[in-house]
Amino acid sequence: MEQVINYLKSNFETYLEELKNYIRIPSISTLETHKDKMVECADFVAKQFEAAGMEKVKIYPTQRHPLVYGEWLKQPGKPTVLIYGHYDVQPVDPLELWHNDPFEPRIEDGKIYARGANDNKGQNFVHLKAVEAFMKTTGSLPVNVKFLFEGEEEIGSANLAKFLKTEQELLKCDCIMISDTSMYAPNVPTITYGLRGLLYMEVEVTAADRDLHSGSFGGAVANPINELSKMIAKLHDKNGKVTIPNFYKDIPLPTKQERENFKKLKFSDKAYAKALGVKELQGEKGFTTLERLWVRPTLDCNGIVGGFTEKGAKTVLPSKALAKISMRLVPNQDPEKIAKDFAKFFKSISPKSVTTDVRKLHYGSPAVAPLNSKGINAAASALLKAFGKKAVFTREGGSIPIVVDLMKQLKAPAVLMGLGLDSDNIHSPNEHFRLENFEKGLYSAAYFLDDLSKQ
Ligand code: BES
Ligand code: MN
Repeated sequence: MEQVINYLKSNFETYLEELKNYIRIPSISTLETHKDKMVECADFVAKQFEAAGMEKVKIYPTQRHPLVYGEWLKQPGKPTVLIYGHYDVQPVDPLELWHNDPFEPRIEDGKIYARGANDNKGQNFVHLKAVEAFMKTTGSLPVNVKFLFEGEEEIGSANLAKFLKTEQELLKCDCIMISDTSMYAPNVPTITYGLRGLLYMEVEVTAADRDLHSGSFGGAVANPINELSKMIAKLHDKNGKVTIPNFYKDIPLPTKQERENFKKLKFSDKAYAKALGVKELQGEKGFTTLERLWVRPTLDCNGIVGGFTEKGAKTVLPSKALAKISMRLVPNQDPEKIAKDFAKFFKSISPKSVTTDVRKLHYGSPAVAPLNSKGINAAASALLKAFGKKAVFTREGGSIPIVVDLMKQLKAPAVLMGLGLDSDNIHSPNEHFRLENFEKGLYSAAYFLDDLSKQ
């Protein structure tokens, strides 16, 4: 083991340079214009799998972006871990707020700044290099490993979900390792056991069949922006509860044990508000901040467009207004059912003076992983060695849509060993990843394989 860790240590600078090359490929999955970049990135990943000593490395084309698979199965009798990662990233807008080109990584203050530096290239890279270090130093691995990286996590993983249905034999494993979540705080190693789900909708409100002069027509016909705003406002009540019928039906309350565990984390509302630059926190009444983030569902408008938005003034009654509305879901909320309930409710609060179109963009189910699996035990012991501290157990407000499908279809527990921080600006300008977490992540990933073989 010492040999492997020393190897990782002495190759840190090389790995950092390789990570930069991975990041330089602008693999933005949602943009049609970046399709060839996705292919290029899948290729890069396949080469990394090969460098890590994987066999049967294969790029599986899908209806949208390719999946990359590789395996090394030469430890019969030992557990098999499926290491999942995603090579796609989010768009970079607003570009003007970045201090460097988002795809030309910058190192400053012990952090690497770039789109994907954390989510998820930096985090999945530690597993590639840990495996590579074992192969280069010992010529083998302590357990069986399967790598599966996809290019559609940020857009809902629809094609991986399909692939999973037919490839259970190929992907068969004893546990699923994922580093794509946050640590509770700097230098607090963390194992996450719950993720929220997500349902993403789009609503479009149309009034007149063209834009109109707001003087000649204002007062006579509906303004879709005004009406859309009123409708959005009706989606919450005064206690911060979502008003869609049946939205909270069957949601389990946090258990007593969970409430106590959350308390132990000593979360400070004041420090949190300060770190985010808000005067006060806000949300559903009757729940603590950690409960609101981790065990309660939410609804948010993510974007709204319509009318004149350039500099200056234009007097116009726009014909259309559009909003992107997403919901974070918790266990027992069925995304498909909620999509229907949302559409019905949204149409019911739409006035006759406009036409309202409701579309479902994508969704992913919430996931809660068992707390007592061999994988979790191995991760806990690995984190202790790498960080010199005991791991805390958290849930997470974000989503990784495929986790539930992976656990169900492969009948294996997930282990979420995140290395990011909530303050790393993922999905936002100046996304970064701490080099310290990259380094300790490399060690954690290596110890994990060794500890899993001893469970
Ligand atoms: N790595 C994130 C999940 C995450 C978010 C972990 C926040 C920790 C903190 C993942 O890549 C992600 O962004 N997921 C999307 C999924 C969605 C687009 C289907 C999300 O949560 O918005
Ligand atoms: Mn993401």
